[in-house]
Amino acid sequence: MSYKFQTKCIYGNLDSTSCDQSGAISFPIYQSATFAHPGIGNSTGYDYSRLQNPTREQLEKVVCALENGYDALAFSSGMAAITALMEIFNPGDHILSGNDLYGGSIRLFNKINRKNLLNFDFVDTSKEDIETYIKPETKAIYVETPTNPMMNVTDIRAIADIAKRHNLLFIVDNTFLSPYFQNPLDLGADIVIHSGTKFLGGHNDTLAGFVVINSKELSDKLRYVIKTVGSGLAPFDSWLILRGIKTLAIRMEQQQKNAITLATWLESYPLVKSVYYPGLPSHPGYDIMKKQARGFGSMVTFEVESKDLVVKILGNVKLIRFAESLGGVESLITYPITQTHADVPPAELATNGVTDTILRLSVGLESVDDLIYDLSQAFH
Ligand SMILES: Cc1ncc(COP(=O)(O)O)c(C=O)c1O
Repeated sequence: MSYKFQTKCIYGNLDSTSCDQSGAISFPIYQSATFAHPGIGNSTGYDYSRLQNPTREQLEKVVCALENGYDALAFSSGMAAITALMEIFNPGDHILSGNDLYGGSIRLFNKINRKNLLNFDFVDTSKEDIETYIKPETKAIYVETPTNPMMNVTDIRAIADIAKRHNLLFIVDNTFLSPYFQNPLDLGADIVIHSGTKFLGGHNDTLAGFVVINSKELSDKLRYVIKTVGSGLAPFDSWLILRGIKTLAIRMEQQQKNAITLATWLESYPLVKSVYYPGLPSHPGYDIMKKQARGFGSMVTFEVESKDLVVKILGNVKLIRFAESLGGVESLITYPITQTHADVPPAELATNGVTDTILRLSVGLESVDDLIYDLSQAFH
């Protein structure tokens, strides 16, 4: 039985009565490092929480159901999830990656994975003919769509076709839209990444990450990695993310509504040079978004005339907080060049258009009137 999305946010695909023997409505936090066995070769299904824990397992089942995956694994952060995923590759393997990515992912690829002899090329998967970059050693294509922070949109089905033709794994970081608006596995991707810290958790209070996969083979490889490297999500944090996901659908709808209003307001505001929001018909990715996603999300990037104006806005905002991260009920404004993308080489930032006049907004659940009032006073 497969439930509708809103129901899956609360129960996954599970029968609601099968969650816990006690009848607890809120799934219990199994705060136990280890589990006793009745005898040799006779396990309860749980051995040691690094391998699996009932609360983490419940969360993994819910996220797996939301992304229509074969299996999902919950990690201690989005970066822990991507780091574990990179362990399935071997020295000499080449990964073709989108160029505009969360700065931490670029840092991981350039500074940690390259040291372990993985190779990367960074290309604009929203525009370029990526087939020309594929080499005999290429093993995977890695994209974010929409990208952080420039909101570039990649055609997932088109890249999936290329990946299939060349026998490559296709990995999509789906953090910005969440499974509520986009399901990359249904569009032909093999692996989905989430920073669960963002929309899935939704309250700016917990770090988490997910890898969702479409096959037993990938599941076996990643289960081996998680039990070996030990970066699985702790029971209490698993419970917080389970709780956050229960309201995912309703949060995504309202945050998107606020974002559309705010992006439209910014687009007509005289001191704003450009707005990058894929829900605006002027955005180059608008038509692709309409084909492959059920919404546009609530991330809005914009450019102002000068760095002086950036400094003024960041110093003046009162309701909207100047902080990294995104996807929570509280609206945040981020300055990518000194925060999320501080470690990206300047040449790459310039290529991607991440300049000192770019700001990124994560639109939350406050009244949109209050958000517009706060932003407009911050410009002066
Ligand atoms: C698109 C994207 N992927 C991955 C990450 C990393 O997630 P975390 O901060 O949970 O480690 C982030 C963090 O901002 C992100 O924006």
